[in-house]
Amino acid sequence: MLPRRVEVLAALAWAFWAALAHCEASGGVVKLPDDFIVGSGTSSYQAEGAWNVSGKGESLFDRILHSSALTGVPNADVGADSYHRSKDDVAAARELKLRMYRFSLSWPRLLPNGWTSNVNQDGLRYYNQLIDDLQDSGIQPMVTLFHWDAPQALQDEFDGWNDDKMVDAFVAYADFAFTHFGDRVRYWTTHNEPYLFCNFLPNIAAFLAGTEIPDTAPTPAPGQEANDYKCLQRIVLSHARAYRLYQEKYAAKQHGTIDFLGVNNYFGQTIAAAKRPERGSALTDAAVRVVANDVFGSHAVTAFSQMTPWSLKEAALWCWAEYRVPIFVTENGFITENSVVSLDDNIRAVYHSAYMRELVRGIEEDGVRVLGYLAWSLIDLFEWVRQYKYSYGLVHVDYAGGSLNRTLKKSSAFFKEVGETRTIPEVAASSARFSSSLLPVFAGLILLKCL
Ligand SMILES: *[C@@H]1O[C@H](CO)[C@@H](O)[C@H](O)[C@H]1NC(C)=O
Ligand SMILES: *[C@@H]1O[C@H](CO)[C@@H](O)[C@H](O)[C@H]1NC(C)=O
Repeated sequence: MLPRRVEVLAALAWAFWAALAHCEASGGVVKLPDDFIVGSGTSSYQAEGAWNVSGKGESLFDRILHSSALTGVPNADVGADSYHRSKDDVAAARELKLRMYRFSLSWPRLLPNGWTSNVNQDGLRYYNQLIDDLQDSGIQPMVTLFHWDAPQALQDEFDGWNDDKMVDAFVAYADFAFTHFGDRVRYWTTHNEPYLFCNFLPNIAAFLAGTEIPDTAPTPAPGQEANDYKCLQRIVLSHARAYRLYQEKYAAKQHGTIDFLGVNNYFGQTIAAAKRPERGSALTDAAVRVVANDVFGSHAVTAFSQMTPWSLKEAALWCWAEYRVPIFVTENGFITENSVVSLDDNIRAVYHSAYMRELVRGIEEDGVRVLGYLAWSLIDLFEWVRQYKYSYGLVHVDYAGGSLNRTLKKSSAFFKEVGETRTIPEVAASSARFSSSLLPVFAGLILLKCL
């Protein structure tokens, strides 16, 4: 007969082993790969406000949102006022233990008439300060050169991306940005979602003016069919030239990279084959029909609040198989209504946990090279179509009260844990783990269970 103490120890060991096996079977703890960067992002028009101060030029979106057709539609003249509160944004990112902050430069804030002949020193000062503050906090900046807010001056001069001159203007602006910020910026992206931008552009006012978003993707007007392709072609050209410029003139001495593919993913859609329409556009030429949760339908909000974590893994896998360049997930996020309960967003932790875990599975099982993951968005932002009604922020902005104060939401506990432990905890929708003062108790239980 075994002594009693050995029996107890054996029982404990068995329980421990069983718990471990259970945790492994149910996913348990997923470790972040070495060097994998977790962060979050915003864009200039959506965050900065200060649309007409300190020498900033007017942007395309300033003009559109001030048009009489959109009277009464909220704009981002003030927005989250990040121009005056960027230190709060950096502090929030630091509290969340994020390692990267992706933001875009406002081209007209730096170059009010679009060209480098006229530099706005206050704009330079603003971005220099932001980059310095991030560095002081140990947060890497990722800079997006173009997140849609083109200088209105170039719209007036030659109709922006509808003219080849825009390619030259963009390359000169990119050169300017590399020169002034490249000593501290290691990660650059050129264009955000050109596909959407070129299709949105002719239709954005209509989108924003409608109280209901139309149920079908906009059909291009006669004569406009090829415009989105021309716009896309110019954007691709401008990307290629900015990329070469960086590689040839800056990469060696600035040690940065522009050599990765940024992937923005929110959800997957169920589609069926469809007839190719007579008048083509990049939106419709894929010749598929969305049969559930069409992003352009009245279900847009439902689409951006569904969880299809496999879609991120599949997107990364497809891009890797197709292009063989490292991938950076530059946006991934979950929409919730802006209301008094918007701080209570356990569901957002569920979303980010599930997507990140799938992504890491793709890295481990399929060998996809992924440099990092940036949640959209750091703070609640002006969102183009739904303005301030819905948001993606990890950090609440008090638009309703008008103070614009930043407050961490409940889901922040998840990001803090990721940053501290370099693991991705599993978060269940039913769990109160990240949503109440019971947090320490639950954390204790989970520790016992999954140690
Ligand atoms: C800036 O825009 C605001 C509206 O957002 C307006 O009230 C103000 O007069 C403008 N200031 C200048 C200097 O044009
Ligand atoms: C906003 O933050 C400021 C500075 O911390 C504070 O004085 C003020 O009371 C806050 N306002 C609200 C409505 O929370």
